[in-house]
Amino acid sequence: MTRVAFIGLGLMGKPMAKRLLRCGHELTVHNRSRGPVEELEALGARAASSPEEAARSSEVTFLMLPDSKDVRDVVLGEGGLMGGLKSGSIVVDCSTVSPMTEVEIASKLAGLGVSYLDAPVTGGTVAAEAGTLTFMVGGEREAFERVRPLLECMGRRIEYMGPSGSGQLTKLANQIAVAGTLLAAAEALVFAVKVGLDPRKVLDVIGSGAAGSWQLNNLGPKMIERDYSPGFKVEHLRKDLRIVLEVAERTGVPLFGASTVHQLTKVLSAMGFDKHGTQAVFEVLLRFSHEA
Ligand SMILES: NC(=O)c1ccc[n+]([C@@H]2O[C@H](COP(=O)([O-])OP(=O)(O)OC[C@H]3O[C@@H](n4cnc5c(N)ncnc54)[C@H](OP(=O)(O)O)[C@@H]3O)[C@@H](O)[C@H]2O)c1
Repeated sequence: MTRVAFIGLGLMGKPMAKRLLRCGHELTVHNRSRGPVEELEALGARAASSPEEAARSSEVTFLMLPDSKDVRDVVLGEGGLMGGLKSGSIVVDCSTVSPMTEVEIASKLAGLGVSYLDAPVTGGTVAAEAGTLTFMVGGEREAFERVRPLLECMGRRIEYMGPSGSGQLTKLANQIAVAGTLLAAAEALVFAVKVGLDPRKVLDVIGSGAAGSWQLNNLGPKMIERDYSPGFKVEHLRKDLRIVLEVAERTGVPLFGASTVHQLTKVLSAMGFDKHGTQAVFEVLLRFSHEA
């Protein structure tokens, strides 16, 4: 049993924290709003009023927060982790944030004798609930080996990718592929609707062939039902592609698909879809289609 803290109990963090409890670990939780904290308390977790308090009692602290600024505030800000972390402890950031932020925080915490791993995930809320996430981890290998049993409570595939920042860089490659297949799925299904085909039948047929993808097979049915309830929010895809393009700019890689989808996420945000699932790309394409 390990003394674990978990900060950020949103769509992903809450089910991940529940899995740590189910594995028998002693868990302390903190979140900006109270609701999910009370839910975890009812299951046996302890509540902390600040990240600093959460870190004080834990050997390993997990973060699952929206963006780079949130991670920076929670670790380095007032009442942040830095005030409570003990030498020899480990912080594992599972959020998708800038690799540059991760390298900077890792070097600051190293000065306190604390290891910092970037460990973003893929698989969405379904995998978070089932404990079948994929973890892509960057940082010191020794710290990775120490937290591996905890990651195995929440994931099925746990991969060490290299030094600090490598986990986030792998996740950005993942998001480039996600953006392309999301747009392809939405375009194919809007096209099917507009040419008068039964989109359910089309999805069934093309989803099992060469066009099949996670995006098409998991989000396609929701697109057809125009169910835009969030698994992965539009605001998070916009943030991920912003980071992708920042890194690509530094490295000179041309990213045609990711750039287009990034522009499209701005349109989705302007149309009020920020807190909806990314399958709402379908709705925008549908509304932009005109009658021939
Ligand atoms: N959803 C997915 O399918 C998915 C998949 C892979 C990776 N990710 C990544 O995982 C991260 C989290 O995603 P999510 O979907 O779980 O997001 P989310 O539902 O928006 O949850 C974020 C959580 O962080 C809390 N929070 C924000 N700032 C905080 C602070 N300063 N102190 C304490 N708590 C704070 C929020 O509290 P409130 O309750 O007050 O809002 C919320 O509970 C993002 O980086 C996302 O890109 C998401």
